[in-house]
Amino acid sequence: MDGIKLLCGNSNRQLAEKIARELNVEITDATVKEFSDGETNITINESIRGYNTFVVQPTCTPTNKNLVELLLLIDAAKRCSAHHVSAVVPYYGYGRQERLTSRTAISAKAVASWIQVSGADHFLSIDLHSEAIAGFFEIPVDNMTAIPLMATHFRQKGFYENDNAVVVSPDTGGVKRARNFATRLNLPIAIVDKLRSRANESEVAHVVGNVEGKNCIIVDDIVDTGGSLSNAASILKDKGAKKVYAACTHPVLSGTGYERIADSELEELVTTDTIPLSESSRKKITQLSIAPILAECIKRTYSQQSITELFAK
Ligand code: R5P
Repeated sequence: MDGIKLLCGNSNRQLAEKIARELNVEITDATVKEFSDGETNITINESIRGYNTFVVQPTCTPTNKNLVELLLLIDAAKRCSAHHVSAVVPYYGYGRQERLTSRTAISAKAVASWIQVSGADHFLSIDLHSEAIAGFFEIPVDNMTAIPLMATHFRQKGFYENDNAVVVSPDTGGVKRARNFATRLNLPIAIVDKLRSRANESEVAHVVGNVEGKNCIIVDDIVDTGGSLSNAASILKDKGAKKVYAACTHPVLSGTGYERIADSELEELVTTDTIPLSESSRKKITQLSIAPILAECIKRTYSQQSITELFAK
C-alpha cells in the first residue's frame, strides 16, 4: 500500500490503528490539538504530496468537535497536495436529521456540503441512517454495511435456519434492514410498531408477526439512549418471546444508554467499533471490529476495484 496515507483525528484512534495494521501502513504523523479557546488546530507533519489520503474520523460524541477535526483534516490534506482525499466516516453523526420537518435544519445535508467544501473527493461510511443521505453528496459515496458481520456472529451461535428464531425490526422504518439480516440467516421477520412522541423518547405499541416461544434478534442501525431497544425487548417478552438479542451497528450509547442496556431484558447486544465503547460499562455488549471491512474498501478504492462486489453475497 505504498501510495496510501492514513490520517486520523481524535474520535476513534483505536479503529484507525486497526485499519493501519490491516493495510500494513503507519498512521500519518499529524498533530490534532485544541487551543485554550477551544479552536481546533491541525498540522500534518510529513509530506503527503501526490498520495491517496484516507481521513478516518467518525463524527461521534463530542460530535461538533469531531466534525470540525474531520473538516480541517480534509482541508489540510488538500492544502498539502494530496492526490485524492477520501473521508472515511464510519459513523455519520447528524445522520438522523435527514429530512424536513417543521422549521428544522436538514443537518445531514448541511454536513455533507461541508465535507465536500472542505475538499473531500470521496465519502465512505457504514450503515448510514438513511440511504438517501448518499444523495446529499455530489462526490462518489460508498455506504458499506456491518449486517453481514453481525449476522455471521449469530450464525455461529446457531441461529441459521432455526425454527425457534425470528429477526425483529424495532420500527417500521427498519424493515428493509431487518429483512437483509434475516435473509442471511434464513429466518422470518417480525416488526415492533413504535410510536415516538418526542426525540430521544420512545413508546412501543404492538408487534406484527409471531414471536411467541422464539429467540428474537432486534436489528437496528443505532443504539443511542437504549430506549428503543429496551422497550422493544420488554414488549417482545410480554408477547411470549423466549430470549431477546440485539444487533446494532453504531453504539452511540448516550446518557444512561449503558445502564439501560445492562438493566434491559436483552441477553446480548452485538455492535461494532465504528464508535469507541466506554471501558468500564460493557455489560451484555459484544463488540465486533469493522476494521477488516474498512481496510478492504480502502484497498479497493486505491486500486480502483469494485466495492459493491464485496457485499454481493
Ligand atoms: C431511529 O430511527 C434509529 O434507527 C434508532 O432506533 C434510534 O436512533 C435509537 O435511539 P434510542 O436508543 O435513543 O432509542
